[in-house]
Amino acid sequence: MIIRLEQPQDYREVENLTREAFWNVYRPGCTEHYVLNQYRDNPDFIPELDFVMEEYGRIIGHVMFSKAEIILNDGSHFPSWTFGPISIHPDYKRKGYGLKFLNYALEKAKAMGIGLLQMEGNIDFYKHAGFDLASKLHIHYHDMPRDAEVPFFLAQELIPGYWDDREGDYTPPKGYFVADENPEAFEAYEATFPPKEKKVLPGQLFQ
Ligand SMILES: CC(C)(COP(=O)(O)OP(=O)(O)OC[C@H]1O[C@@H](n2cnc3c(N)ncnc32)[C@H](O)[C@@H]1OP(=O)(O)O)[C@@H](O)C(=O)NCCC(=O)NCCS
Repeated sequence: MIIRLEQPQDYREVENLTREAFWNVYRPGCTEHYVLNQYRDNPDFIPELDFVMEEYGRIIGHVMFSKAEIILNDGSHFPSWTFGPISIHPDYKRKGYGLKFLNYALEKAKAMGIGLLQMEGNIDFYKHAGFDLASKLHIHYHDMPRDAEVPFFLAQELIPGYWDDREGDYTPPKGYFVADENPEAFEAYEATFPPKEKKVLPGQLFQ
């Protein structure tokens, strides 16, 4: 197994992997492959942290990172970062690949000076890589009341002291909403993949 930077010739294989990994997990079908497809041209995208995991010549994992920001209580903009989509191919799930991959990417992020990450995800996975509820760092989720419990909103200070006990609100970067903003463009893109059955399943967040 090797981890390396994504190359342009990997793009389609990686988007297909992302589609396979996310399909029917959080909603019937998924849109994460389109987010990735559009994000590589976004100024928030970080090419130095766009990794694939390869096993016997097949790409089985991918993760990308993005610049982000937190609006502090005094209204100022504080630089932060986020990541995702992160995908492990369904054939390789729950074998430890995801955690190994994420920890590798987090080390690289830290080495680049990335001091703070926040993202939406399942704490049962991300707690193994050092993440905890963002509320414990007084980072609040944009469309939820500040005192609401937001179990999916997670954060980690990668460089101790970077956040320094501030308080503020986080909105995911605009690039993550591209499929909702351009549903027709998304459908045209989705139609370039082999058909796959959309299913309503228990545990999906959006139905
Ligand atoms: C989430 C994902 C990246 C995790 O990768 P993975 O290789 O399956 O995870 P690992 O085997 O490294 O898991 C390590 C530990 O994290 C926890 N964990 C992993 N996936 C979990 C899940 N879906 N639910 C609860 N706990 C989970 C478990 O404790 C696991 O250890 P165990 O299998 O011994 O119980 C992968 O399953 C995936 O691509 N899922 C679909 C897309 C997705 O949801 N991406 C993340 C969006 S936030």
